[in-house]
Amino acid sequence: MSAVRPADPDRLWSTLQTMAALSEPGPGVTRLAYTPLEREAHDRFAEWMATAGCTIAVDPAGNTVATRPGRAAGPATGTGSHLDSVYHGGRFDGIAGTMAAVEVARLLHEAGAETALPLRFVAFAGEEGARFGQACCGSKLAAGLSSRAELDARRDRDGVSLAAAMAAVGLDPDAAARAAWDPAEWSAFVELHVEQGAVLERAKLDVGVVDLISGSTRIELTVTGQASHTGGTPMPGRSDALAAAAEAVLLAEQVALDPRHRGTRATVGRLSVLPGSITTIPGQATFSLDVRDVDADRQRQSAAEIVTRMRAACLRRGTRLDARLLADTSAVVLPDWVRTEVTAAATELGLRYRVLTSGASHDAQMVNRLVPTAMIFVPSRHGLSHVPEEWTEPAQLAAGADLLLAALLRLDARAAAAATLENAGGAR
Ligand code: GLV
Ligand code: MN
Ligand code: MN
Repeated sequence: MSAVRPADPDRLWSTLQTMAALSEPGPGVTRLAYTPLEREAHDRFAEWMATAGCTIAVDPAGNTVATRPGRAAGPATGTGSHLDSVYHGGRFDGIAGTMAAVEVARLLHEAGAETALPLRFVAFAGEEGARFGQACCGSKLAAGLSSRAELDARRDRDGVSLAAAMAAVGLDPDAAARAAWDPAEWSAFVELHVEQGAVLERAKLDVGVVDLISGSTRIELTVTGQASHTGGTPMPGRSDALAAAAEAVLLAEQVALDPRHRGTRATVGRLSVLPGSITTIPGQATFSLDVRDVDADRQRQSAAEIVTRMRAACLRRGTRLDARLLADTSAVVLPDWVRTEVTAAATELGLRYRVLTSGASHDAQMVNRLVPTAMIFVPSRHGLSHVPEEWTEPAQLAAGADLLLAALLRLDARAAAAATLENAGGAR
């Protein structure tokens, strides 16, 4: 056994670029949840991990789990993130964490290093809510938080259910709904991710350590008006579904900007219009609303207020508004003791860090229901994410991977000490 080397920025970068090449054509990276491309990314992850000495398992939800044995069997310390992307996303969201996991496995393998207990490296399936509305599908299943009925109910924009999409890539949705992981097999988990905000960049910091992950309420709204001829129909008395939707979009922004809702983010990211003709007044407009907050009460109050005010505006315009809840997740407070191990590791490595909240959703918020979890953020250039311009420098990724490795080793040592104490207690 030799000393474990620091992360190799060039190797980490080239692994990440190999992953980025797995994309639908078009701007940025498009590798949607539960598609053949996402499964190809999981296969690649599995190959790399097998070469680094891990044994590979794919759970029924499609999460790929690579296990590196420890000196003894026992609860594992884990890390990982996701491999799917949004439509026209970037190269780093999810990938930074899974590729950092690959780098950590490689470094340990090269050094012939031993940990006391097993390490597990996970690529979660279907984290992005972009396709099915719900974020973190794979980790939610792993945490035992999804039912079989939910897999049928969630649909993508073409009407394909999550269950059907899973079956189409060879997964078994019946088994997935029954395949919660056993918490006894885990001691702690750390997800590395890009920040997707500009706090670290502005403060010129190396890494962030997350204390709180925002929740999200997602709603599909449909405005129904009366389609008719754009030339023959006078302006007064129209029931223009798109004009009503336009007012509704601005109302969402207005409510979120109101100081009473400070910290709430409300976004309409998708809108479609029927019949979608230059010469017909829109008869129907369907759009999404995503309300995020670190305060679960304020998140739901904001969402309710937005929908109430939208409904009134639509009525005033002679249209009707129907609302359908797509997904609803509360903010999650991550446990202090795992975070403290990560910040201690950052201090040891001389990394400049701060503790910050996450505006985005992450697998960590589901995994934390099962095993105490921490999150490491690496900087995002200009805070941009979910766009092709997403960027993190190779050295910043490598610093994150170094911290991840150090944190995993600390957590492994802590788990081993706890196991020893338990055994001693049992022997008395
Ligand atoms: C996941 O990236 C999210 O939408 O927060
Ligand atoms: Mn992500
Ligand atoms: Mn994302």
